[in-house]
Amino acid sequence: MRRYIITILGLLIVSCNSETNTTTTSNQPASQTTSKEDSELDKKVASLLSEMTLEEKVGQMTQITLDVVTKGDDQYSSSLPYRLDSALVHKAIHTYKVGSVLNTPGIPLSKEDWYKTIKVFQDEAAKTPRQIPIIYGIDAIHGVNYTTGATLFPQQIGLAATFNPILVKEAARISAYETRASSIPWNFSPVLGLGRNPLWPRLWETFGEDVYLGKTMGVAMVEGYQGKVGDLTTVASCMKHYLGYSVPLSGKDRTPAWIPERELRQYFLPAFKAAIDAGSITLMINSGDINGVPVHASKFLLTDVLRDELGFKGLAVTDWSDINYLHTRHKVAPTIKDAIRMSVNAGIDMSMVPHDFQFSELLVELVNEGSVAMERINSAVSRILKVKMQLGLFENPVTDPKDYPDFGSAKFAQVSKNAALESITLLKNKNTILPLAEGTKILVTGATANSMRPLNGGWSYNWQGSEADVYAKNMNTVAEAFMKKGNAVFQQGVTFDGKNDAIDAAVRAAKQSDVVLLCLGENSYTETPGNTHSIMMPDTHVALAKALAKTGKKIILVLLEGRPVIFNEIEPLVDAVFMGYLPGNYGADALVDLVYGAENPSGKLPINYPKYPHSLVNYNHKHSDNISLPNYYESDYDQQYEFGEGLSYTTFQYSDLEVSAEEMTENETIKVKVKVTNTGNRKGKESVLMFVSDLYASITPEVRALKGYQKIELAKGASQNVTFEITKESLSFVNAALETVAEPGDFEISIGNLVKKIKLN
Ligand code: BGC
Repeated sequence: MRRYIITILGLLIVSCNSETNTTTTSNQPASQTTSKEDSELDKKVASLLSEMTLEEKVGQMTQITLDVVTKGDDQYSSSLPYRLDSALVHKAIHTYKVGSVLNTPGIPLSKEDWYKTIKVFQDEAAKTPRQIPIIYGIDAIHGVNYTTGATLFPQQIGLAATFNPILVKEAARISAYETRASSIPWNFSPVLGLGRNPLWPRLWETFGEDVYLGKTMGVAMVEGYQGKVGDLTTVASCMKHYLGYSVPLSGKDRTPAWIPERELRQYFLPAFKAAIDAGSITLMINSGDINGVPVHASKFLLTDVLRDELGFKGLAVTDWSDINYLHTRHKVAPTIKDAIRMSVNAGIDMSMVPHDFQFSELLVELVNEGSVAMERINSAVSRILKVKMQLGLFENPVTDPKDYPDFGSAKFAQVSKNAALESITLLKNKNTILPLAEGTKILVTGATANSMRPLNGGWSYNWQGSEADVYAKNMNTVAEAFMKKGNAVFQQGVTFDGKNDAIDAAVRAAKQSDVVLLCLGENSYTETPGNTHSIMMPDTHVALAKALAKTGKKIILVLLEGRPVIFNEIEPLVDAVFMGYLPGNYGADALVDLVYGAENPSGKLPINYPKYPHSLVNYNHKHSDNISLPNYYESDYDQQYEFGEGLSYTTFQYSDLEVSAEEMTENETIKVKVKVTNTGNRKGKESVLMFVSDLYASITPEVRALKGYQKIELAKGASQNVTFEITKESLSFVNAALETVAEPGDFEISIGNLVKKIKLN
């Protein structure tokens, strides 16, 4: 148990294709230091390390949570008003020589209070013999969500739906700026696991189910967070959770995953590889176990693959209490001391302990007994010191909010709103009911209609996002945004606690309105508390939809949710569907603009939206996932909506698909060109997606897989040629010998409904 106390303006074209991601402008990833800077840092690190005692070293490897050093009943909680306990701070910094602190005291702090808090640690650290600053880490996963007044963005799943990496990079850049304005230099983001299991309560923290989309979005976010490492408006990114955390077999958080190494390599490694190549300097480890081996104890994954194969040189931190869990939960370590030995020897650098100092004490013993080699400690501490130096913490241990005048500014809010506008995905628009004419009388109703919680989701103001209505009270809920627009009334209808006594009132209000905006989905949750026995829409919500449908009024369904809630029973009853994901503090304002047509929707689904609870299949499934011959009963592949779907108020026609050659060898590149024309009657943005299908392969091929995308904006009647490249990488998969190969044979390139065949010789 834990923490229970209390478009970019003027955007024209965004391209992501194979190895070419236009958000990277030079060969040297922006976030990496040059080799000269690097070797100078290495020298400084080595010199500092040579002076350090063993106790100082293991202290650097120790990360505690803030509750440990605050006034309160125990190390698991802080009493409010929040106050640091100077004796405990002293003990942490001087006795245990702790190198890192994380988290909030259960409430968000103002940026000024963050400054004061972190300054206390740094002032203490400055009094120690080596004067090594602490590194403070936080989950600023959609903006610096534990700082009051910060700009909160759509959660990652919504950012993925924008198919706009430039916008995502900008959102990350702003998040970094506001995190530094809160004096915090280390952000536990992005999540690079793929959201391939819709039951998993952390699906919304991912960029969706696709490898290519996840990889390119991850790189954009890392670049946005880190910029040039050391610039005091940027932070260290933290790729998480390495590796294979996102697909527990049961769908429940932190339960076992079974992933063949071939699949680990094909689906789960590429996003980490790409982010490492883009210069991400820290990484967090998966709390779960894969194939019976907890990742925190896997030398294979933490050293052989991560270090030797992927070449990661940065700092690897454990997840929350995960060394202890090797003993208490996973039962692979008979004692906590064994757990520490196993995990440090497997390759962790820092332990998010986070509640006590046992890690330091036992690790000193382990080194003195010879069970953990000093070289292992030295390599871990070198990486930690280097990250601290890269971030400029030795010169600037704390950044002052006064130096960040743009914190919470209107221009940052506009970027957040743009992200919401480009993410919210129109999935149905029967008889083009949308956009609504000005003056249409609207009833806004439903469980997600009048709260900031379902707009922001978890990790918002507190861990579970449960206080969003308090801290974001100046922002608009959907009901408030529509009422401000005029001609709207609100009736709750249903809530999340199973009550249905307000349905009649909603029906009466619907009768007085022209259109119903029915807002359903999920309330906020984070991690394990979000585990669910069912992803079916609750009965009371279905009952409200049915009662409203009986009025004969048109219904626009708005889904605010972190994972797809199955609603096949009511889908035929609604005229329009918006998938809003968790669009952040400006999501409701964006929705008003989309519903009334001031803005044109352009989001596309980054996941398959299932229609049935026992048909949870990804879009890039195998051919045998769709056995639709007669008498195969319910064996067909039938989704409510598919990955990549998303409507606009205009229409786009794809034509003239051309390839520069019909045959290629491994070293060649084929250029693909398609003409896109806006054939409707208004300006719009369109994400052009290129899929590749390997027709026959030694491992059953996927039906299709995304290999490039570009977001363009076209005026009414305008056309544009969009080009992609097909390289060996676009045609590759991991074979039975675990090699990434492109096998000779035929492939199909598809864009929209157009298809071209090519051959690899
Ligand atoms: C989560 C991580 C998070 C960490 C620190 C863990 O429970 O799994 O994603 O970064 O807590 O808050």
